[in-house]
This record gives sequence, C-alpha cells and structure tokens, in this order.
Amino acid sequence: MNGITHATALWYASRATGVVSLVLLTLVVVLGVLVNRQGRLPGLPSFAVTGLHRSLSLVAVVFLAVHVITAVVDPFVTIGAAAILIPFVSPYLPFWTGLGAVALDLVIALIVTSLARGRMPRRAWRWVHWLAYAAWPVAFAHGLGVSTDMLSGGLRVVAIGSALAVGGAVLWRVSQAMKATPRPERAASELVRSERRARRQPARHHRRGGPVSPPDDPACGPRNPVTGAAAR
Ligand code: HEM
Repeated sequence: MNGITHATALWYASRATGVVSLVLLTLVVVLGVLVNRQGRLPGLPSFAVTGLHRSLSLVAVVFLAVHVITAVVDPFVTIGAAAILIPFVSPYLPFWTGLGAVALDLVIALIVTSLARGRMPRRAWRWVHWLAYAAWPVAFAHGLGVSTDMLSGGLRVVAIGSALAVGGAVLWRVSQAMKATPRPERAASELVRSERRARRQPARHHRRGGPVSPPDDPACGPRNPVTGAAAR
C-alpha cells in the first residue's frame, strides 16, 4: 500500500480535514461579515445567502468532527479525549492544541445558539454570533502553531489566502459602516428638518390669508429675534 499504514492514513486524514475545516470556516466568516443587516449580499437574493451560509456551516462541522476524531485516535500524538473540549490539557503541544479546543468551543456555542435562536432574545443571539467570529483567528493560530507545514509550500498559499479573505471582508464592512450615517445622527437631522417645516407652516397660512391663523395670532406675526416673543 505504498508505505501508507493505518496510522499514517489517520495522520493524513487529520491534517487534510484540518485544512478543509479552516477553509470552510473562512468562507462562513467571510459570508457572515459581508452580508448586511437585511441578510443581503450584492447580486444574490437573501434566501440564497442564508442557504449558502447554512450549508457551508454544516459541511464545516462535518469536516471538523472528522478532524478532531482522527487527531485524537492518531497513535503518533497523545491528545486525550478531554482535550477536544477542555483547552490546554493536551499532552501534545498543549498551547497550540488548546487553541483548537477554544475554537471548537466557540463553534459549538454558535451551533447551539443558532438552533435555539427562536427562543433567545435577538440581542443575546447577535452577541454570541459576533463572539463566535473570534473562532476564526483562534483556529487560524491553532493551524499555524500546530502544523509543521502551514508556513511553506501550497499550505502557505491557503493560510495567506484565508487571512487576506477575512481581512478584506472586515475592511470592506468597516468602510461601509463608516459611509452610512449613524442612526442617532440621522434621527437628529430628521428632527431639525421637521422643526424647520413646522416653523414655515403658519407663515404660509398667514400669507395666503387662510382662516387657521388670524392676523393677530402671535405665531404668525413678526418675532423679536432675541427673545423669540411676538413683536408688537
Ligand atoms: C475550529 C476548530 C479547528 C480548526 C479549524 C482546525 C484546523 C487545523 C489545521 C488547519 C491544522 C493544520 C493541518 C496541517 O498539519 O497542515 C490542524 C492541525 C491539527 N489539529 Fe486542528 N483544528 C481545529 C480544532 C482542533 C481540535 C479541537 C483539536 C484537538 C483537540 C485539534 C487537533 C489538531 C492536531 C493534533 C493537529 C496536528 C495534526 C498533525 O500535523 O499531526 N484541532 N488543525
């Protein structure tokens, strides 16, 4: 079998599924960052965006499960089942493997809260969702730290490409947010505009001689520019 034993097959499987999990997680995060509050992405209807986000997340979870199981049963490294969820208790590279466990815990929090979304306050769900995006940098650091090859050859291209994709998406989102007028500012300018409209309204009645504002109505007559009181 060309020198590939049961143990090396597990090692390859663990590494390959680790890389695929990172790429899928990158796509899920990029999609989540680019999508706007209405769940839309330029050029795509919202149901397609939601469907893509959900399908990619599901496939990522499957690869992640295979990655973790093959890493733990691989006889070349001693990790221990507890280290899958409890960070920094693995005898093998405790820090870097521990970051993998932190990323997995965040992904699990994301899955659980997404399933319970209907029963959760929307604000709390959004907070957990944003927190779960922290899973990406943690998983990225885990991949770079634990792997012997992520910094060379083809895997380096995967690592740089993933980092550029997430960084680019975050920059785009921040630039869009900065372009949009913040809500309180929008409300304030709307208030000023409606006040101006209201101030103009009685004067127009007066000019047209309408019955609503009699000529001696203080609201229509000239005003003292300092006190604002009706001028006599
Ligand atoms: C979101 C969660 C995770 C992601 C995205 C992820 C991703 C990766 C990536 C990209 C690699 C490098 C593959 C290579 O060697 O080229 C890797 C390696 C590894 N991961 Fe994970 N991982 C995650 C969680 C975990 C967890 C929870 C564990 C176990 C507790 C774990 C154990 C390992 C081990 C032992 C290796 C080294 C494999 C080897 O080179 O021998 N990972 N992972």
